[in-house]
Amino acid sequence: MNNRELSEGPAGKRRGLLFGLSAAAALAAAALLTATHSQAIQFAQADEEPAEEEELAPAEETAPPRDAESIARGLTLYRDSLRCVMCHAWDGHVARVEGEPLAADLTRTQLTYDQLIEVVACGRPATGMPNHLRGSYTDAHPCYGLVFADMTNDMYPRRALGQTNEQGITDVVNYIVDVYVGKEMTFDNCVLYYQREAPQCERFRPQ
Ligand code: HEC
Repeated sequence: MNNRELSEGPAGKRRGLLFGLSAAAALAAAALLTATHSQAIQFAQADEEPAEEEELAPAEETAPPRDAESIARGLTLYRDSLRCVMCHAWDGHVARVEGEPLAADLTRTQLTYDQLIEVVACGRPATGMPNHLRGSYTDAHPCYGLVFADMTNDMYPRRALGQTNEQGITDVVNYIVDVYVGKEMTFDNCVLYYQREAPQCERFRPQ
């Protein structure tokens, strides 16, 4: 062992230790940087147009928390009693009905949650979208500032296939926001709709 080795020995070790420490520090700094960097990106994206697949539909962004029971009641309303399915199809896209105007595709709607509540309750005057709230367009619940007495026949929305109360409107909107708005159909939601593994669900079955 010569002098060089003696003098370099401990120093070498210290360098090793220092290197270890600084590597760890560098890693930590890098992690911190990545964190703040990706946060910065998130903030930037909030201002700009977010990436296509991460874009939340306005209804989802503005929806209050929804409970599973309300969504389940909403499905029954959609499918059975209000029969939204007649015009909007089981999957929320558009059903072609002989002699009826084409409905809107619910998976692509840009309406907010409150606007969905309003359009499902009140329908759209002078279109094929019926008013589903019992008592809509009366003094108890004017729609778009109107009561039926103010309207001429050609302004009425289409006659509903079924009507419900305010809770029912909330339930069916919770259902469409949960299953259709801004979403692709899933195997589970298909099975939920048909209450069994119907042939329609096969193409959604996870591989
Ligand atoms: C008789 C056919 C019919 C039925 C039944 C029906 N709709 Fe519609 N719906 C339409 C039509 C047509 C439109 C497009 C109206 C327009 O021209 O603006 C529409 C529009 C809508 C819109 C507006 C979407 C947008 O982005 O503008 C929503 C939401 C909607 N329907 C939900 C429902 C729900 C929920 C039900 C059941 C409670 C229902 N509809 C029942 C025909 C129907």
